[in-house]
Amino acid sequence: MGDGVILSREEIIALESSLARRVEVHETLASTQERAKELALGDPGTPHGTLVVSKVQTGGRGRLGRSWGSPAGGLWMSLVLRLALPLHLAPQITPAAAVGVAKALQKMGVNTRIKWPNDLLVDGAGGRKICGILAEAGGQASNNFIVLGVGINANVDSQNLEDPPRKTASLRSELGRDVDLLELLETVLAKLDFEIGRLHDFGAILEDWKELDCTLGERVLVRRFGEVVEGTAINLGPEGALVIRTNGGIVEVYEGDVEHLYQGGT
Ligand code: BTN
Repeated sequence: MGDGVILSREEIIALESSLARRVEVHETLASTQERAKELALGDPGTPHGTLVVSKVQTGGRGRLGRSWGSPAGGLWMSLVLRLALPLHLAPQITPAAAVGVAKALQKMGVNTRIKWPNDLLVDGAGGRKICGILAEAGGQASNNFIVLGVGINANVDSQNLEDPPRKTASLRSELGRDVDLLELLETVLAKLDFEIGRLHDFGAILEDWKELDCTLGERVLVRRFGEVVEGTAINLGPEGALVIRTNGGIVEVYEGDVEHLYQGGT
């Protein structure tokens, strides 16, 4: 399967996933994230399980305002989720999604680990990033939604991505072959559906997270709100916070940019 292949809307709908109830497939889009938000904001009837996929993104976005290289061959997708969840539980979507997508990549044959909070790496701590996840809450009381963006470096070469090649991986680089994007999408949707379906049992999701984690036990430096926390990552809190033992005591961080402190750093 080469870079020229585009998923078709019909074959995605034929998957009969509850996360692909309504499907848009684009050749080129600035960002599937922006398109999914536009759909959800523009029409409160946009259902849970509205999926936007684009072969190429010209303005793919990552966390913290970073850009996300999105050439042909990757799986660039955003989902509109409408969950009967109190909004303060929305942050738990990110770890649940990370667990789901990590399991999907494992199933595709790539040994994937989660770097807190939402990076999927190969080769463990300090490894190369194969997937990024971006969950954003939007709307107002009568029209609440979450847009969950997933970017998987599938059939792409690292030098075509924006991060330095030594820091990125792809399914192609790890498996030595290209994957069927429809099979990848089907696997991702099934795993996401499972994890999202058990958000009420977040403890079970965290248990799986710990199995897949590569941050716990590491020396870390976390940048958040202009502040830096340095110490050893020792646990996850019950809501997914990273618990860090610092010289000044225990600190819990709910968001931030984590650097694993080891020779070479990530
Ligand atoms: C990150 O690691 O910083 C998150 C990256 C998220 C990228 C995906 S690709 C599909 C969706 N559309 C975007 O513009 N971003 C997300």
